[in-house]
Amino acid sequence: MTSALRDLWNLDDEVAFLNHGSFGATPKSVLAAQARLRDQLEQEPVRFFERYLPGALAAAREAVAAWVGGDPAGLAFVPNASTGVATVLANLRLEPGDELLVTNHAYGACRNAFALTAERAGAVLVTAEIPFPGTTEDTIVAAVLAAVTSRTKLALIDHVTSPTGLVFPLERLLPEFAARTCWSTRLTHRACWQSTSTGSPRSARPTTPRTGTSGRAHRRALPSCGFVPTGATAFIRSSSRMV
Ligand SMILES: Cc1ncc(COP(=O)(O)O)c(C=O)c1O
Repeated sequence: MTSALRDLWNLDDEVAFLNHGSFGATPKSVLAAQARLRDQLEQEPVRFFERYLPGALAAAREAVAAWVGGDPAGLAFVPNASTGVATVLANLRLEPGDELLVTNHAYGACRNAFALTAERAGAVLVTAEIPFPGTTEDTIVAAVLAAVTSRTKLALIDHVTSPTGLVFPLERLLPEFAARTCWSTRLTHRACWQSTSTGSPRSARPTTPRTGTSGRAHRRALPSCGFVPTGATAFIRSSSRMV
């Protein structure tokens, strides 16, 4: 990292910090903005929560939705990706025999949440096995779509895979989901997104084999979906089954 870039963080000069995926450091400008908000809150907590916060959150939703190419009304802030996954699962109505789809590259905690939800409902956790190494966009698309059935209610497709560092081609998968007969008119594809790090996925793990395109390309290709370009997880769901 150049010294100009390094100056944007409080990172120790002696350390080459590469792990922005798990515990990304926060830029100084963001820390300063957080401090300003905390000061504002402490000056008059009731005014902050009741008069200031709702409007500020709405403005932030508009700004983030514009950036990711999403719909502000369909965007909610969550503390982290795991909470977003748990929230979606908690609001899903499943019947015995329904299927939840993950891949063998899914982030462990989110996969476990899918497994528990399936177990409790008598549903089936289906895992699309995507070969690795030698993974290509075509093998990903083929493996995922082969695992979709008329019982598939929700798919968890990690954008940037945690165990293998691949970028999955969501811009190809989402239209394919939408085109499946079983999902057809009932499907609204939306992405729940949550950034877990800063910087682009390609620069985050440069030595890992990659496929697919960057988050920016996804945003261009899929105006109805929004993605933060790192650590993002997409959910594709059948809208009629959500509460
Ligand atoms: C693909 C993916 N999904 C979900 C998560 C969980 O993120 P969080 O710890 O912010 O809940 C991670 C974390 O690295 C991830 O890489």
